[in-house]
Amino acid sequence: MSLTNSFFATVFLFVTFITSCIAQTTSQCVPSSCGDSGELKFPFRLRSDPQHCGKTGYELDCQNNETIFHYKSRKFYVQEINYTNFSIRLLDPSLKNQTENCSVFPQHRASYDAMTSLIFGWLRVDNDINYVNCRGQINSSVYIPTSFCSTATNSSFSYLVVGEILQASDLAVGCRVETVAWSAAPGISPNVSSSLSSIHQALGYGFDLSWRRDFLCRECGRDDECVFKDNSDVATCIHYCKEDTPVSERSFGCKVEYYSVFVLFYGGIAIGALVVVGITILIAVVVWQCKRRNLNTSNHDVLGNKASSSEENC
Ligand SMILES: *[C@@H]1O[C@H](CO)[C@@H](O)[C@H](O)[C@H]1NC(C)=O
Ligand SMILES: *[C@@H]1O[C@H](CO)[C@@H](O)[C@H](O)[C@H]1NC(C)=O
Ligand SMILES: *[C@@H]1O[C@H](CO)[C@@H](O)[C@H](O)[C@H]1NC(C)=O
Ligand SMILES: *[C@@H]1O[C@H](CO)[C@@H](O)[C@H](O)[C@H]1NC(C)=O
Ligand SMILES: *[C@@H]1O[C@H](CO)[C@@H](O)[C@H](O)[C@H]1NC(C)=O
Ligand SMILES: *[C@@H]1O[C@H](CO)[C@@H](O)[C@H](O)[C@H]1NC(C)=O
Ligand SMILES: *[C@@H]1O[C@H](CO)[C@@H](O)[C@H](O)[C@H]1NC(C)=O
Ligand SMILES: *[C@@H]1O[C@H](CO)[C@@H](O)[C@H](O)[C@H]1NC(C)=O
Repeated sequence: MSLTNSFFATVFLFVTFITSCIAQTTSQCVPSSCGDSGELKFPFRLRSDPQHCGKTGYELDCQNNETIFHYKSRKFYVQEINYTNFSIRLLDPSLKNQTENCSVFPQHRASYDAMTSLIFGWLRVDNDINYVNCRGQINSSVYIPTSFCSTATNSSFSYLVVGEILQASDLAVGCRVETVAWSAAPGISPNVSSSLSSIHQALGYGFDLSWRRDFLCRECGRDDECVFKDNSDVATCIHYCKEDTPVSERSFGCKVEYYSVFVLFYGGIAIGALVVVGITILIAVVVWQCKRRNLNTSNHDVLGNKASSSEENC
């Protein structure tokens, strides 16, 4: 008893030691800063900070006092990170300087699949700002006349339109969406007509993405479903093996789960077959034994009524 106790005590001490070591190295991470995007801390880190200070996918760069987030070949300015509500505000570099007499195109067209994969989810706080070209003049308060700085075509029928355009019927006849930018700026909304300068301001504000799910679900495995309790920031990993994931891409646990079904099925069949064969052999042996004994007793029939008693044994 004392041996097991001291064993567990040793393990406990060891684990405590390791944990405190890890805690110590994490606490050595001091928040960084770059320009005026505020404190940069876990799970974010500047690429020049120690690796353990951040999480993979949250690396930032600092160039000329601008905090930069690189996503594939794209580059965005980091305007603000909120660690309370897990949001990050990014700005397309082209939209930083809006000029007064024309509207600057974003470098990257805003699209759901491009940015919201990887570590980010999209927040509904962002408005679409559409760059719309029309064949004729549009007489509507939500079509804000402007000209596009970078287009060579001399079209005087260019507009900025706030709001989601999902289908042709959301758009005035003869118009085409050139590109879309997102903005999380307060004060602009699809049904309220805005001035050109307020839309330019909104374009320069940037858009919000959320890193909440990726961050809070970081303990979940590949095959886990991450569930939030009562919309709080407490995440639970629920393990289940998805049927539509190819077996080769499943985690070890799910592979075991997948193959164990086969093992149980064929194992069951094998055991069943063995039992049937075994019983058959047993019966055959018993029958054979009886026959032999009967044969023996009939040979010794002269010895009297022993034959009938061995007959009863079978
Ligand atoms: C960055 O900003 C700091 C103060 O905010 C300033 O001292 C420094 O010169 C700036 N560096 C560059 C490259 O603009
Ligand atoms: C972060 O977001 C929360 C909730 O929206 C807000 O109360 C808080 O002021 C924000 N923090 C910063 C530094 O903006
Ligand atoms: C988080 O707070 C920022 C301001 O700090 C705000 O712009 C953003 O919309 C908030 N996001 C959520 C989901 O509340
Ligand atoms: C924005 O304008 C400033 C000067 O006003 C310039 O230094 C900077 O390079 C411009 N940024 C972009 C992305 O054009
Ligand atoms: C308007 O744009 C032209 C170039 O197209 C530029 O030369 C001029 O300075 C701009 N005017 C204002 C007020 O920004
Ligand atoms: C646009 O509509 C307003 C009324 O909503 C009207 O007074 C004006 O003449 C119209 N302009 C054109 C060019 O159709
Ligand atoms: C653009 O159109 C205006 C009239 O709408 C015209 O005066 C101007 O010469 C045109 N410019 C070019 C480069 O075609
Ligand atoms: C904006 O107006 C349209 C009808 O013009 C309406 O269907 C939609 O619900 C309105 N959206 C908001 C946010 O008020």
